[in-house]
Amino acid sequence: MANISTIDLQAVFQKVDNSILLDRDDIFTLLAVERPELIEAVRQKAYELKVRLLGRKVYFRGIIEFSNICEKDCYYCGIRRDNRNVERFLMSEDEIVKEAIWIYENKYASLVLQSGERSNPKFVDFVERILRRIREATDGRLRVTLSLGEQSAGTYERWFLAGAHRYLLRIETSDEDLYRRLHPPDHDFNRRFECLRLLRNIGYQVGTGVMIGLPGQTLHHLVDDILFFRDNDIDMIGMGPYLPHSDTPLGQHASIDKKQQLQLGLKMISATRLVVNDVNIAATTALQALDPKGREMGVLAGANVIMPNVTDTRYRPAYQLYDEKPCINENSTMCRGCLAHRIMAIGEEIGYDEWGDSLHYRNRLKGKNDFPQQKIGVDSG
Ligand code: 5AD
Ligand code: FES
Repeated sequence: MANISTIDLQAVFQKVDNSILLDRDDIFTLLAVERPELIEAVRQKAYELKVRLLGRKVYFRGIIEFSNICEKDCYYCGIRRDNRNVERFLMSEDEIVKEAIWIYENKYASLVLQSGERSNPKFVDFVERILRRIREATDGRLRVTLSLGEQSAGTYERWFLAGAHRYLLRIETSDEDLYRRLHPPDHDFNRRFECLRLLRNIGYQVGTGVMIGLPGQTLHHLVDDILFFRDNDIDMIGMGPYLPHSDTPLGQHASIDKKQQLQLGLKMISATRLVVNDVNIAATTALQALDPKGREMGVLAGANVIMPNVTDTRYRPAYQLYDEKPCINENSTMCRGCLAHRIMAIGEEIGYDEWGDSLHYRNRLKGKNDFPQQKIGVDSG
């Protein structure tokens, strides 16, 4: 284990203060700190930067997990195709639109539609109709994010035209070799990467992310993940600790040290904030699975987005990507109150009725970003 000293860390902080691009070694230093006071120093530095750039404000994105039917078979995911112990569901159009209106009326201003991955024409039409209905019912005033996996350029385009503005597609890991070990042979890293480029070219605000603390993953992989976010000019980041699911090939025998897993997840948020300053970073539910205060800890580590679950309570138990997913017995109103209270308690305010587009995206539109290398959507040849 690397023995990081206060002096090493101060050198990295100085670069941050002078807006000097952090390199691979600097990022490693941020992630490798072990002494509690140094871990705390990294957290504080990242949180200060978040407050200075983005204020003491957290944006909500109400997430509707509308179906657990999935054509894919990722080795880590509880709703993978081959898991026979899951009762599959698809919410109706009316149910989804009703929840979207709840989000709008509760002033969350942004909505995420997530489901297992499907690409048949019926599903594509279904999503398109829902997007149109949501736009109509909310006067186009909700920012809509999709998290529906890999699709064709044509599908992404149709959904964009029907009212989706943002797309989340986690790369899961930026290391092709590790990716291959986490997925069946027909799941293609390059195809996934290509999807990020397509989304960007169509005009979406693009979000990606990784799982943290995966079996076989090293700190060097995580350093590369952060560089991946920067090099590809990503607008939004949603990442969280890997949590085993007992009905999956990867989770069957895996055991994790919850404390360490949480700590690594928080370190990743802080390091990412210090490297790609102006992105939106979500404090994800997986953090909360490890500690009831996990999401607040995520915000205090540099995140500025929370995605409250607004899925009808009766569908929640069947959408378990990992074991012990929190809030499966709560409803949207309970989650709203609970979260508002928690955010206030850490001295942050909720950006009700604000879209909260990432500063990175807004700068990108103005052509003001600092990191021009290897941008998605810019032909390098
Ligand atoms: N632990 C943590 N995150 C997981 N996801 C899927 N399975 C797990 C798991 N076992 C994440 C993936 C996916 C997102 C929707 O959920 O990163 O992209
Ligand atoms: Fe559904 Fe991975 S198992 S996308």
